[in-house]
Amino acid sequence: MAVKPQRRSRKRQAVRVLVVHGPNLNLLGTREPNVYGRDTLKNIDSRLRQLAGELEVSVETFQSNGEGMLVDRVQAARGTADVIIINAGAYTHTSVAIRDALLATELPVIEVHLSNPYKREAFRHRSLISDIAAGQIVGFGADSYLLGLRAAVGLLV
Ligand code: DQA
Repeated sequence: MAVKPQRRSRKRQAVRVLVVHGPNLNLLGTREPNVYGRDTLKNIDSRLRQLAGELEVSVETFQSNGEGMLVDRVQAARGTADVIIINAGAYTHTSVAIRDALLATELPVIEVHLSNPYKREAFRHRSLISDIAAGQIVGFGADSYLLGLRAAVGLLV
């Protein structure tokens, strides 16, 4: 009876989740709070760490405003992470380079957005990530990330 939870726990602790935040997400809290909410990025990252602790997985977060920096960090996930949660911000709609980097990792990808882009301007309706992602979680503010983390663990454990 005691063997099963122990096994599950060991496996979970081995799961490494990388969360990537794209451009302008460093401004969360003050950036268009009517669209993105009042949570700061620091607060979101700390909630992610707390949930990761509860789920017994490890999480690392990374934010950059630069496309190349995001590509570099995604590339480095190969061999160091098991799943990527990404909010590529505006690059979601434009970046072939980030899409290619995600594909190159051969890791499962979960796309998240604070807002629901499909309720917004037409140029936000196209994502260059969605068709290579395991799934997409949008429109729940900071909770999109937390739901993304649960989904990531569900995929792997
Ligand atoms: C966003 C949606 C994008 O369209 C926008 O450019 C962002 C944030 C979101 O989380 O809702 O920067 O990715």
